[in-house]
Amino acid sequence: MEKQFPKGFLWGAAASAPQTEGAALIDGKSPSTWDKWFELEPELFYNGVGPEHTSNTYHMYKEDVHLMKEMSLNSYRTSIAWTRLLPDGETVNPKAVEFYRNYFNEMVANGVEPIINLFHFDMPWWLMEKGGWEARESVDKFAYYAKVAFEQFGDIVKKWATFNEPLVHIECGYMGDAHYPKVHDFKRAIQVAYHTLLAHAKAVEAFKEVGIEDGEIGIILNLSPAYAKSEEEADQAAAFHADLFYIRSFLDTVVKGYFPEELIAILKEHQLTPVVEEGDRQIFEDNTVDFLGVNYYQPLRVQAPLPQEFPAKGVGYFSRYYDWPDKVINPHRGWEIYEQGIYDIAMRVKEDYHNIKWFISENGMGVSEEERFFDENGQVQDDYRIEFVTNHLTKLHQAIEDGSNCFGYHMWTFLDCWSWLNAYKNRYGYYRVDLDDAFKRTAKKSSHWMKELSETNRLVI
Ligand code: BG6
Repeated sequence: MEKQFPKGFLWGAAASAPQTEGAALIDGKSPSTWDKWFELEPELFYNGVGPEHTSNTYHMYKEDVHLMKEMSLNSYRTSIAWTRLLPDGETVNPKAVEFYRNYFNEMVANGVEPIINLFHFDMPWWLMEKGGWEARESVDKFAYYAKVAFEQFGDIVKKWATFNEPLVHIECGYMGDAHYPKVHDFKRAIQVAYHTLLAHAKAVEAFKEVGIEDGEIGIILNLSPAYAKSEEEADQAAAFHADLFYIRSFLDTVVKGYFPEELIAILKEHQLTPVVEEGDRQIFEDNTVDFLGVNYYQPLRVQAPLPQEFPAKGVGYFSRYYDWPDKVINPHRGWEIYEQGIYDIAMRVKEDYHNIKWFISENGMGVSEEERFFDENGQVQDDYRIEFVTNHLTKLHQAIEDGSNCFGYHMWTFLDCWSWLNAYKNRYGYYRVDLDDAFKRTAKKSSHWMKELSETNRLVI
């Protein structure tokens, strides 16, 4: 069977600056929280590999773009490192401007449309020392950074995103230990979420002020549909609340321009309302997005929570993880594989969010110890990845046929990349990166498969 994707569909891959560039502390770049955290607690990082040892794209960007072209990818998403462009938050670093202009121009010259994101978990250390996203000051600092980026690169880059997965730095940094500063405090997490969303809206405002010809601005959200254990009222309420906190608090705000009423009511009831300034509401209302990037890996399975004190566990007060017995697991990463989720979220965007244009900005399969799948020539035979992508694309195609306004599919990721505390544990790329051999890139089987798909627009099942 064959599935034809629309003409002009974007085929590509996603990555981020801190996960691929390397060169973490040279040419004027100042440290991000990741650089500093690695210096402070290197033992937390898988195999002791830190952000300096990412894929060295800073020096190898030409080769990378050449490989993108060879794979016939027509688009690529990465980010700018705030700490490279504005090392002290004020002064533009000419070396950064030179690098990013060369890199983005190289993409365009090779038929690869750059989609550029501004924040992928990489808070500048100097700003973290002043309170990070908890401090209102970070909102204006971010808006300034956004403005500088639009001015410097807006002639080359037309599609922009403000944040990648804002939920993640909030949850992992303020309700968990996977991101710095490892705080566990729901009230502080809510303030961080508020400032993040306000910073997003102010960056959209800056985008309009700069006025990039043919420019579009969006945000990348991880949207995991929440499925309830049963039809029981308490389980349904759990799914409603998971959806409210994890999806609607972001989506409603960036697409519709206001926070969900139910969220505001809950925050008021539990004295969790963040500090808000006069005029903020208008900023949200006036600065909605042109498009959405949707990262989809796995769904949320939830059930009614156990009785507990509020707000010890934050969202856990309203819903609890449920171990669905029928789930299919990626044995190499432990995440659930559920391709129906991509269809459900696609239709949700269509039905509840004015059928706004959107694309899959991340979807992919992480595999630990992927060298197990080397053939005799050292090529990774990643048939599991091809199957994973095929199954998700089949569902995505169905959603497009059913009217969802999806314009592209980006796999996470192009090159195996450094992934925060997990460093190089889980490999996701179309290309393998050899850390022991000067970051040598080797095509995996999936890269050949994807090349054919991007050239023909035709998925063969
Ligand atoms: C995504 C993030 O959610 O997950 C990426 O946007 C991250 O930055 C990816 O690398 C994979 O995570 P992990 O933990 O499986 O390596």
